[in-house]
Amino acid sequence: MKVTVIGTGYVGLVTGACLAEMGNHVVCLDVDERKIRVLQDGGIPIHEPGLEAIVQRNAAMGRLQFTTDVAQAVAHGTLQFIGVGTPPGEDGSADLQHVLSAARSIGAHMTDYKVIVDKSTVPVGTADRVREAVAQELARRGVDVAYAVVSNPEFLKEGAAVGDFMRPDRIIVGADDERAVLLMRALYASFTRNHERLQLMDVRSAEFTKYAANAMLATRISFMNELALLAEKVGADIDMVRRGIGSDPRIGTHFLYAGAGYGGSCFPKDVKALVRTGQEYGVKLRVLEAVEEANDLQKHVLGRKVVEHFGEDLAGRTFALWGLAFKPDTDDMREAPSLVVVDDLVRRGARVQAYDPVATEQAQVALKGVPGVSFVDSAQAALAGADALVIVTEWREFRSPDFDAMRAALKQPLVIDGRNLFEPALLKAHGLEYVAIGRSQAN
Ligand code: UGA
Repeated sequence: MKVTVIGTGYVGLVTGACLAEMGNHVVCLDVDERKIRVLQDGGIPIHEPGLEAIVQRNAAMGRLQFTTDVAQAVAHGTLQFIGVGTPPGEDGSADLQHVLSAARSIGAHMTDYKVIVDKSTVPVGTADRVREAVAQELARRGVDVAYAVVSNPEFLKEGAAVGDFMRPDRIIVGADDERAVLLMRALYASFTRNHERLQLMDVRSAEFTKYAANAMLATRISFMNELALLAEKVGADIDMVRRGIGSDPRIGTHFLYAGAGYGGSCFPKDVKALVRTGQEYGVKLRVLEAVEEANDLQKHVLGRKVVEHFGEDLAGRTFALWGLAFKPDTDDMREAPSLVVVDDLVRRGARVQAYDPVATEQAQVALKGVPGVSFVDSAQAALAGADALVIVTEWREFRSPDFDAMRAALKQPLVIDGRNLFEPALLKAHGLEYVAIGRSQAN
C-alpha cells in the first residue's frame, strides 16, 4: 500500500520504517531539512535499537523515502499518517498546532480519497478538529474530495519500539468510515496474521484509550513508589512485596517497579493532559492529580537519601552518577529523573561525575550551564575519587559491576540505588553499604 507519514520524530519514523519493512511504499515528510538530510544519508536522528538497520534496508530497496516536499508527500499515500509532536502547552493541555498544520497541508494538496490517521497522542475530539482543518482547506480551494479521519494511537516503548510495532499486543483503530476500516485492516493484516489483534471502535474511544493506558501505567508506578516510602518505615522490602502482589493475575507483574520516578516524553505529558481534559469537562481526576504530585516528589528521593547520609551541605563532595537517560536503551533526556537528581546535588555544592552509555550528548544539552557536572566515558571512571555512587537509570551494563573495584574507587563504600538493581546481601558481602528504594533491609 502507499503510505505517507508526516513527522519523522520518534513515532513517525518507527511507523514509517516498520510499515516499509512489511512491503508498503512509504514516504516520510518533515519540515526539518536537517533531519531529512540525515535520514537520506542513511543515518537516524534518535537512538533506537534495530531502527537504523530497518531504515537503511528499506531505503535501499526504494520502499522508504524521505522528503521535505509537502505536495509530493501528500500525493503519494492513500493513507496519511500524522505522527508529529504534541508538546504540553503552558496549561498542561496538548499543543495541537503541529497536528493541525499537518492536516491543513493534506487538505491543501490532496486530489483523491485519503485516510488521515492520527498517530500522535491527541486529546479526545482531535479527530473532529483534524476533519475540520482539512475541510477548510478543501473549501478554500473550492474542491470536493472525500476523506476519512481515523484514530490509531501508538503504544511504542522507547528502546523497544521496533519490536512493539512489529509484534503489537493490540492495534487500536477508531473509525466511522467503512472504506477507511477496510484500508486499515488491510494495512495491519500482516502484523496480526496469527492472532487478531485489531480492535475496532469509535474514534473518541480510540483517542481516550491511549490516555487511559498511559494514565493507568503511571498510576501503578506512583502507587508503588508511595508504598516503597512506607515499606522503608515499617521495615518491609518493596521488592518482596512486588513479587508477592504481582503473582496475582488481576494485578500482573509489569510496571510494579519502585524507582526514582517516571520520566520520558509520554507519561508526564499525558497525565497532565488528561487532568486538564478532566478540568475542561468538569471532572476532577483526583487519583491522577495525586499520581503526578507523587512523581514530582519521587524524583527528589535520591537527593534526599544523599542528604540523609551526608547532610545538607555537600560542598567538597563528589558523586558518581550512573545513568542519565530517563530509562535504558534510549538517549532521551526528556523529563529524566537524573536532571532533578543532578540539580539536588549541585545546588548543595556537590560535584557530579556522570556516565551514561548513550545519552551523554543529549545530557550535555539538557544540563548546559549547570555547574559542577562532568561527563566521563565509563562506569568505572565515574567512580574514581567519588564519595559515593548514585544509580539513576538501570542500564544492563550496570547490573554486574566489579564490586571490589567499586569499593576500591569510592571514598566511602556507599551505593545509593534508585532502581533496586542488586540483592542487598551481595553488596554487604563485598563490604559496600547499600541504600535502595523501599528496602529497609538495605537502607
Ligand atoms: C510509555 C508506554 O509504556 C508506552 O506504552 C507508550 O506507547 C509510550 O509511553 C507513549 O505514550 O508513547 P516510554 O515512555 O517509552 O513508553 O517508557 P516506559 O518504558 O513506559 O517507561 C516510562 C517511565 O516509567 C520510565 O522513566 C521508567 O523508568 C518508569 N518506570 C517504568 C518505573 O519507574 N517503574 C516501572 O515499573 C516501569
